[in-house]
Amino acid sequence: MEFYRQTYAEIDLDAFQKNIESIRARFADAEFFCPMIKANGYGHGDQTLSLFLQHLGVQAVGVCLIEEALLLKEAGFNNKILIFRGFDEMGAKEILGQGFVPVISSFDHIAHLQKWAKTEVEVHVKFNTGMNRLGFAPSEATNVVAKLAASPKLKVEGLLTHLLNGDDGIEDEGETARQLFQFNEISKVFSTFKPKHHVYNSGGCLAKEWARQLKLKHKHFDNRWGIRPGLMIYGYKPVGMGTDWDLHPVMNLKSTVSHIRQVSKGEGVSYGASWRASRDSQIGIVPIGYADGYHRMLSNRASVLVLGERVPVVGRICMDFMMIDLTDTLKSKTLQTHQDREVTLFGFDRERNFLSVDEIAHHSQTISWEVLTQVGVRVPRRYLGGKSFFNEVVGTRGRDLT
Ligand SMILES: Cc1ncc(COP(=O)(O)O)c(C=O)c1O
Repeated sequence: MEFYRQTYAEIDLDAFQKNIESIRARFADAEFFCPMIKANGYGHGDQTLSLFLQHLGVQAVGVCLIEEALLLKEAGFNNKILIFRGFDEMGAKEILGQGFVPVISSFDHIAHLQKWAKTEVEVHVKFNTGMNRLGFAPSEATNVVAKLAASPKLKVEGLLTHLLNGDDGIEDEGETARQLFQFNEISKVFSTFKPKHHVYNSGGCLAKEWARQLKLKHKHFDNRWGIRPGLMIYGYKPVGMGTDWDLHPVMNLKSTVSHIRQVSKGEGVSYGASWRASRDSQIGIVPIGYADGYHRMLSNRASVLVLGERVPVVGRICMDFMMIDLTDTLKSKTLQTHQDREVTLFGFDRERNFLSVDEIAHHSQTISWEVLTQVGVRVPRRYLGGKSFFNEVVGTRGRDLT
């Protein structure tokens, strides 16, 4: 499809690759590596990213839904896809039929798989060590082992838990330390299966690296345990993580000044006239709105980058548009060309000036995960970099991928 609106998300595959490579290098001893590309690859486009990860030699990725896994397979991703959400009997049949890797969190899961598996199937077993969302209770570990031992078609390849507060990982007595200690106890019960362990999300990975930088000897961190990084592969850290690990933001959300209105002193802008001009003003109309994932909470709060300068968002964000006050910028500059009119909502502009997703999250009273995953379906993703990948793998199929 052609796009008639200059609003899009640039996805920098070279930045993505740098993040993946620096994580792999720092966790070279980890026995399992499973980048999380659920929720459309945190908004970055799951089909393209899965193929790119495959091109980089990544053996497994994680999604939440069977539906997401089907999209990856359709794109041509042939390595392991772990399904984290859980499943009913119908889901079990689909997982088995498609060759996906189920994450088991309940005795029902075991029963469904054992009933329908025709051949041996790889499973990963999840324990709840405090998140209280999915996973067996630690007190069930012995029973789970017995049940799995009596389910010959199920081959336990992985054992996992999910950290609820990775950012306290450098504390000796924190929630993470407690969870890891508990997970280690569960691991002993599972030793006969010799599973691969995977534990660390972005907070956990960064805490582990931070502890290493601070030369803290945390006995609860195990170098062999595997990692499931999400946010950090897209170039961001949970707010407050002190490590100087240099990650590379992958998404640049862009739009354009489609026209400029002269607004007289005293006039309002947008619904409810929540902003009024204190002087004769030049207001840029930008064709992106909350339906594209630019949150309405950002009204009268956020700023954008135009010609490398910060320009304030004025008036309420609409479904399809937002307005910016260009009065100061236009005192010394003109928006002659298409490039001049470019608006960067977050990420890098073409001069590498940067506006962080963390700042957008702060103004929207949310977290960076939500800002990235909310970038809407009608915002096309344009991939930058990844030259050999496009030449060798994607070719002319690029237009069909998400
Ligand atoms: C089970 C599981 N593992 C790993 C992750 C990745 O977390 P993060 O994005 O904080 O790295 C998630 C994300 O929510 C998850 O649900």
